[in-house]
Amino acid sequence: MKKLAFLLVFSLLLVGAYGQSATNEVINTILNGYSARAYTSEPVSDKDIELILDCGVKAPSARNAQPWKFTVIKNGDLVGQIIRNATPGNVVILISGPESAEQGMSVNIDCALATESMFIAALGLGLGARIYTAPIAGVNARKQDFQIPEGYRAVTALRIGHMDKNVDAVTAASPRKAKAELVNVVE
Ligand SMILES: Cc1cc2nc3c(=O)[nH]c(=O)nc-3n(C[C@H](O)[C@H](O)[C@H](O)COP(=O)(O)O)c2cc1C
Repeated sequence: MKKLAFLLVFSLLLVGAYGQSATNEVINTILNGYSARAYTSEPVSDKDIELILDCGVKAPSARNAQPWKFTVIKNGDLVGQIIRNATPGNVVILISGPESAEQGMSVNIDCALATESMFIAALGLGLGARIYTAPIAGVNARKQDFQIPEGYRAVTALRIGHMDKNVDAVTAASPRKAKAELVNVVE
C-alpha cells in the first residue's frame, strides 16, 4: 500500500516536472528515464541481458546492414577497467562496428541506434543504464583483452545495473534545452 502511494506521488511529480500526462509505457520510459551513475550491487539477470540484446538486434540500421557486434562484459575486473567506479553487479555491453567500413557508411549512427535501443530496453525493464564513449579509445587500445571480434572497433559502451532507487529520477536527470529553442515547424 505504502509502495502504491509512493508510486502515485512519484508519477504525479514526474507529470508535474514534464507537464505531460503519462499514457504510454514507452513514452513514460523515455520521458522519465535518466542516465544512472548510482547502482546497487544486485546482479543483472541473464534473462534481462538477453532481452536487452534482443532489442539491440532489432535496432534499425542503414540499408539494414546491421553492422554491429555486441560484446557483453560480465567480468567485474574488466567492467572496472572500462568504467571507473563501476559498482559490482554492473554489466557493460560494448557495441562495435567493422573497422573496414567505407567512408559514408552509417556504422557509427547504426551502432548508436542499437545502443539507444538497448538503453531504453534496460530502462523499460526497471534497470539503470548509461551510455559511455569516453572509455572507448582505451577499450580499442586493448581490443583483445575485451574480446572485441576481429576486424571490429568499439563505438560505445552501455553500462547496465540495478539503479539506486534512493536517487530521485527528476533531480538526477540532466536538464534539457527548451523545446521551443530546438524545434521549428514548416507548414
Ligand atoms: C554518445 C554518448 C556518449 C556519452 N559518454 C559519456 C561518458 O563518456 N561518460 C559519462 O559519464 N556519460 C556519458 N554519456 C551520458 C550523458 O552524459 C547523458 O546521457 C546526458 O548527460 C543526459 O543525462 P540524463 O540522461 O541523465 O538526463 C554519454 C551519452 C551519449 C549519448
